Amino acid sequence: MLVLGIESSCDETAAAVVDDQRRILGEVVLSQLEEHRPFGGIVPEVAARSHLQHMDRLVAEAMKRAGIGFAQLDAVAATGGPGLIGGVIVGVMTGKALALASGKPFLAINHLEGHALTARLTHGIDFPYLLLLASGGHCQLLAVDGVGRYSRLGTTIDDAAGEAFDKVAKMAGLGYPGGPAVEQAAALGDPKRFSLPRPMKGKPGCDFSFSGLKNATRLLIESLPKPLSGQDAADVCAAFQLAVAESIADRTRRAIREFRRTRPDGRHLVVAGGVAANTALRQTLITLGAETGLEFLAPPLKLCTDNAAMIAWAGVERLRLGLVDDLTFAPRPRWPL
Ligand code: KG4
Ligand code: ZN
Repeated sequence: MLVLGIESSCDETAAAVVDDQRRILGEVVLSQLEEHRPFGGIVPEVAARSHLQHMDRLVAEAMKRAGIGFAQLDAVAATGGPGLIGGVIVGVMTGKALALASGKPFLAINHLEGHALTARLTHGIDFPYLLLLASGGHCQLLAVDGVGRYSRLGTTIDDAAGEAFDKVAKMAGLGYPGGPAVEQAAALGDPKRFSLPRPMKGKPGCDFSFSGLKNATRLLIESLPKPLSGQDAADVCAAFQLAVAESIADRTRRAIREFRRTRPDGRHLVVAGGVAANTALRQTLITLGAETGLEFLAPPLKLCTDNAAMIAWAGVERLRLGLVDDLTFAPRPRWPL
């Protein structure tokens, strides 16, 4: 079974061909980073135009790398949401056009489902498992019980974790995107010099919150001499990163407790999303997994961040169950799992 996947919901234009043996046969991801960098963040209009400009070429390239023609595909899958609507429209329309022209089924994939099922592509694990999805747009803990069967144990009540990293980087003058810059600065800093709050720590439930921590970090930066010295910036980043890691660990520990209680046969704690690139966070989660008896799994970084292989794979999983869509599917800017 061969499925073409298309992703365009944020600032990566991507296409990939994946088969039902968990092989990625052809894959391309084009990051729009340089186009958005001058603006210090993603500009939806710029993103949509860029997806439109590059999508057909990337699809052709993914097909070429896979060494197949459209006639050999079993389906075409495209991210149907949630995301920046201009980009989602480009991907959905491309997917529908290709499906119609080649007479193949069309699948509209929930981008979050793509992230949620990636560990089955990379590690072949069975359901159920616990997923921490932490990206620029989302921060959620999900029990993944099957294709289309997800229980949200916790979500952010304000900002996503990656968004907080990006804002702190901006405030500390470290540029965009913030996560890698904050991590790099933090490596040279003392996490104990400043004390920042651990949002939600000890609170019931498994929800996240990062806006209070973001504000506390802003006040801390404002209290320091300007321009911020390299050491001050490093110490602020180290303190912020530790606060995020501890907050996420506290929420995840609670989710694991709930997950183990309700799903005693579940064995894995999986991460997805760009924030999963953070080494300090990974280290915390590995320790947490070991403490709680769940095996920690992280897909390779390029499959944690936005990509089309995860969309094609979600397409494979859905197609196997006969869950196809039709060409009347309308792109969804919001689409909770
Ligand atoms: O999953 P992703 O590539 O895109 C979506 O948001 O869907 O995630 C991007 C987010 C950005 O907010 C970025 O700052 C964050 O992931 N990020 C990191 C790191 N690398 C990327 N956050 C913390 N530490 C990192 N090393
Ligand atoms: Zn994503």
